[in-house]
Order: sequence, then C-alpha cells, then structure tokens
Amino acid sequence: MKGIILAGGTGSRLYPITRVVSKQLLPVYDKPMIYFPLTTLMLSGIRDIQIITTREHQHAFQTLLGNGHQWGINLSWCIQEEPGGIAEAFSLSEDFIGNDHCALALGDNILFGNGLTRLLQSVRTPKPGATVFAYRVKDPENYGVVSFNDQGIGIDIEEKPQKPKSNFALIGLYFYDNQVVKIARDVKPGLNNEKHITDINQKYLEMGNLQVERLGRGFAWLDAGTVDSLHNASAFVRSVESRQGIKIACPEEIAWYMGYITNKDLEQLADNLMASGYGNYLREILMEQNG
Ligand code: TTP
Repeated sequence: MKGIILAGGTGSRLYPITRVVSKQLLPVYDKPMIYFPLTTLMLSGIRDIQIITTREHQHAFQTLLGNGHQWGINLSWCIQEEPGGIAEAFSLSEDFIGNDHCALALGDNILFGNGLTRLLQSVRTPKPGATVFAYRVKDPENYGVVSFNDQGIGIDIEEKPQKPKSNFALIGLYFYDNQVVKIARDVKPGLNNEKHITDINQKYLEMGNLQVERLGRGFAWLDAGTVDSLHNASAFVRSVESRQGIKIACPEEIAWYMGYITNKDLEQLADNLMASGYGNYLREILMEQNG
C-alpha cells in the first residue's frame, strides 16, 4: 500500500498568514501541521509516501522532512502546479502508485483517538474497493456529507450540500484499491474548476464498493484550515499533551514504536532536539521502555 499526502492548495482562508508559508508547515502547537497526516499514514503501516506540494513550497518541505530515512520511511515528492482539486492527487501520483492500493491523507487534517492504530491497520490490509471515515460535525455543509440507511450503510454522498441529509462529514483520509487511478482520470472538474474527491467516492458507492466507517465520540477529527480551527487544533494538542505528558503525532516516537528505527536511532534523533524539550521527551520514552 502506498500513501499520498496532499499538501498543496492556496490556504486562502488563512491569509495573510499563508501568503509566503504553506499552511501545512504552520505549527499546530509544537509541530508542523504535516506531521499529523504523515504520522497517520505511518501508524497505518505505510512506509512509501509521496508528498504533493506547490512548486513554491516544495523546497521547505524537503528541508523539513528529507527522504524520510531518519524515520525509516521513504518519502518522494510531486508538484501540483495549480490547486486542481483533491481528486487530482491520483493522476499526479499515478507512476508512484503503480499497481498498488493507496491511501490519501489531506495535509491539514488531524486525527486522534483511542484505538486509532488498530483501526488504521485493519483498513490498511488491501481489500477490493474503498474505505472512508465519517465523523459527526455541526457544520456538515462545509464537507462531503454521507447519509446512512437503517442498517448503518452509507447510501449517499454529496459535496458541500446546502441542505445536508445528515451530520456526517467524510474526513480527509481515504483508502482505495488500484481502480482509483482510472476512476480519478475520468473525474470532470466541478465547482471552482476542481476535481472533487466526492466524485470518486460516489463512483465506488455506485459500484457497491465503498465501506464507510463511522468514528464515534472517542475520536477527534480536526481540520486546521481557518484561523479559528488552527487555533483550536493547537489548543487541543496542547491540552492533551500537557495533561498526559505524551505527544500526539510525533514521527520519531511512531517510527520507533512501529519498529522502523532502533533505540540508538531514536537517541540520536533526540540529541538534535534538546533545546525545545522535544528531545527530552524522546529520551524519556526510551528510558521508560528500558525501565
Ligand atoms: P482546502 O482546505 O479545501 O483548500 P486550501 O488548502 O487551498 O485552502 P483554502 O480553501 O483556504 O484556500 O484543502 C484541503 C487540503 O487539501 C489542504 O491540505 C490542501 C490540500 N489541497 C491540495 O493540495 N490541492 C488542491 O488542489 C486542493 C483543493 C487542496
């Protein structure tokens, strides 16, 4: 299974903050935003990841993340020249996907919750069709909205409907079999001249091949695309981290937890991060494990 992070876009809802900095490089409390979708894919067990950025910002992302080998993963890079929509990711990354299944994570989505790793790893096992996740929100009109029948099966998806049929939004994390490449090629640009991911999900639904997993109260799904939601996401991460003394979306810790890097590797990563307290955290988890 391959992973894609879509980290382009204009970020216009965050202007002027995002005039010169990519949204996905902004801090969410103590980490760059892209660490969140990246660690979601890492927790799924995906190690080959392509990051799609704008031409303008690619260099900054590469300076931050490199080739990923420090975290036991392989990162490759792709440019989206114009924000042509989320569904464009599969055409841009067609060569990278090859004959594999693939997961797409949006660069500004944050997912946290009890049992998340188990859930992600169960979805990652390649099976025919697509798996997407629905989360109850107050403002479904801003998202792709899914409605369910009496048996809890997803039966309808609409892109940003004026009159939503349910409160369940589809979150920015999607798992597809290889058919997605062909399906994405056939998607026609819609609103704002963008190719919408809803059209892909709709197609899987029509084929009877879309699995919609509902995420309950034990999960937090945040997108950090506006000034308020960015601030709320930072506050959320800060509350959980300071209360529990753990970090959310720490790639060094997750690489170590997943067995992608050794104790020694983690120690070295910690050494370079001592000034901020981040390095101390990494040392502490090592010490805790060693008793
Ligand atoms: P959006 O928040 O829909 O778009 P945006 O980031 O350009 O922001 P704004 O609406 O404020 O102008 O995008 C969701 C995520 O998908 C975000 O991480 C950016 C990414 N994205 C792309 O990389 N390319 C695209 O063409 C689009 C539409 C989004």
